[in-house]
Amino acid sequence: MRVLVTGGAGYIGSHTLVHLLRADHQVLVYDNFSNSSPEALARVRQISNRDLASREGDLRDASRIEDAFARFRPDAVIHFAGLKAVGDSHGQPLEYYAQNVAGSITLLQTMARHGCARVVFSSSATVYGEPDYLPFDETHPLRPQSPYGRSKLMIETIIRDWVAAHSGARAILLRYFNPVGAHASGRIGEDPRDIPNNLMPYIAQVAIGRRAELAVHGNDYPTSDGTGERDYIHVEDLARAHLAALDALNRIAGCEAINVGTGQSTSVLEMRAAFERSSGRPIPYRIGPRRPGDVARMCADVRKAASLMGWQAELGLEEMCLSTWAWQSANPGGYGE
Ligand SMILES: NC(=O)c1ccc[n+]([C@@H]2O[C@H](COP(=O)([O-])OP(=O)(O)OC[C@H]3O[C@@H](n4cnc5c(N)ncnc54)[C@H](O)[C@@H]3O)[C@@H](O)[C@H]2O)c1
Repeated sequence: MRVLVTGGAGYIGSHTLVHLLRADHQVLVYDNFSNSSPEALARVRQISNRDLASREGDLRDASRIEDAFARFRPDAVIHFAGLKAVGDSHGQPLEYYAQNVAGSITLLQTMARHGCARVVFSSSATVYGEPDYLPFDETHPLRPQSPYGRSKLMIETIIRDWVAAHSGARAILLRYFNPVGAHASGRIGEDPRDIPNNLMPYIAQVAIGRRAELAVHGNDYPTSDGTGERDYIHVEDLARAHLAALDALNRIAGCEAINVGTGQSTSVLEMRAAFERSSGRPIPYRIGPRRPGDVARMCADVRKAASLMGWQAELGLEEMCLSTWAWQSANPGGYGE
């Protein structure tokens, strides 16, 4: 299949590319490299021993996307590109709506013009907001708490309406829980540009000595040890879910939202201890106040992913920590070094 991958140079995109190439799909990456490096694509080529095409461009640049579609003629799109920092989105809501929402509209308009009727979209568990019950199933009410989360929900809604209006169009909205880990080779991984917003890259940077200690945001939640619990999903399992979704698009009608998680939740302190074991490095930490907007616990109901896509997570905490450490220790400065 010919697959156009927006944001393919990013963290989740780069891992997915390796699986796409190994499955003999032809790939064009469309990315503005605002949060990634072309070096990630070079490493994907090395790991997979296959070539892929890439085009530098912004989602909002209609003529450049048009040109990419005219030349590449994709059968399907995997749409990763967008801004993703929940905290930043409160300060720059318009930037989030312009890039994520308006950019997705431009993409869908171009798809429609070219008769490309299949899309897999990177949504997020943040669309759920405060849980009424756990685990979250896909019918749980949607009440995102940030401009970022609301931009994801808006795109979900727009894709649903687009599918309903175009006969033959099909979409899968993958609601990722907390992606962590790296390719086992340590050649590609998550490379945050600033202070990491997420737990795992933060822990990894403490382990390598780039940061002094882990800031734990609150230890008075109603969880096993008082720290927040999340459903961490290995990025390699997540990458496989995109191939399962492409395949499932042959069988479903319309548009489906599907959770991608493990169904298990792990606390901050459990993850810290697992990382100490895997890396053999101490991870000093300090307990601070709760962070506004954080929920105590999140966890996915993963039955729909199994029944519709035949997919389930296979990798556990140890593989998440070992692969993160393989990436961080071989690339202490990320792709910059
Ligand atoms: N990593 C997570 O924790 C997580 C969780 C849930 C959902 N998601 C979603 O998954 C997707 C991929 O996440 P990621 O962690 O790989 O992020 P990432 O920032 O590593 O990758 C996103 C890629 O999109 C590119 N990009 C951003 N804005 C663009 C634009 N306007 N035009 C063209 N390219 C653009 C960036 O350069 C980058 O290569 C995002 O949509 C994100 O919101 C991520």
